[in-house]
Amino acid sequence: MRRVLKWIGIVLGGLLVIGLIAGAAVYFLSEGRLNATYTVPADSMSFHNDIEIVAESERLATIRGCTDCHAENLGGKAVIDNPMIGVIYASNLTTGEGGIGDAYTDAELARAIRHDVRPDDTGLLVMPSAGYSMLSDEDVNALVAYIRNVPDVNREIPPIHLTMMACVLFMAGQLPPLAAEIIDHEAVRNHVSNIFNKLQVADRTQAIIRARDAGMGQ
Ligand code: HEC
Repeated sequence: MRRVLKWIGIVLGGLLVIGLIAGAAVYFLSEGRLNATYTVPADSMSFHNDIEIVAESERLATIRGCTDCHAENLGGKAVIDNPMIGVIYASNLTTGEGGIGDAYTDAELARAIRHDVRPDDTGLLVMPSAGYSMLSDEDVNALVAYIRNVPDVNREIPPIHLTMMACVLFMAGQLPPLAAEIIDHEAVRNHVSNIFNKLQVADRTQAIIRARDAGMGQ
């Protein structure tokens, strides 16, 4: 009997050690992915913020889902708050207390939207930039203008906290992907200029005129 108990003890002890090693491995691998940095070439778009753009931008922020996650007033809210997974809040994008507005330049906001990276080049979790990476300069400009024009919201956003279970799910591809990992950052930058080059035009207005001349949209 004692021999059996001893063996059960050894087996359980062995399983515990294997479990701990596997847990530590998952933790370090996921930490490595979550803290990875991305090389994103600088964008050359210019920003303007006139009245028509701001009106259009509200519609865009709604249909693109920004207000679903970041709240109607862009003051941020919980996207995941679950004891098994952890806590992930969509940021407060305003310039109020707890907001990131002052810490970002317009170009850095555009980069976050299209490339899913923070100014320090690390990736943003859950933020679905893979769906925004091919937005035109005009649309990105409108979204930046919208962020710049919303009233301040004072709301401190809790830091991201992921449980071990979340790390396992993330490594197994069962959490929303890290968009910065999948976006082809070089291609995003070249996308619009490539289309213009192919059409042999310099900008969007010329592209539209050319399309009309070719009989499109009539
Ligand atoms: C599915 C939910 C979701 C949607 C939709 C979404 N975001 Fe986010 N966004 C997040 C989360 C979560 C973060 C914070 C991620 C982090 O800190 O790792 C974030 C971060 C950001 C940041 C960087 C802020 C920071 O904390 O550094 C910007 C800028 C941003 N989002 C803009 C937008 C805009 C503009 C849209 C719409 C085009 C949008 N987001 C749509 C979830 C979302």
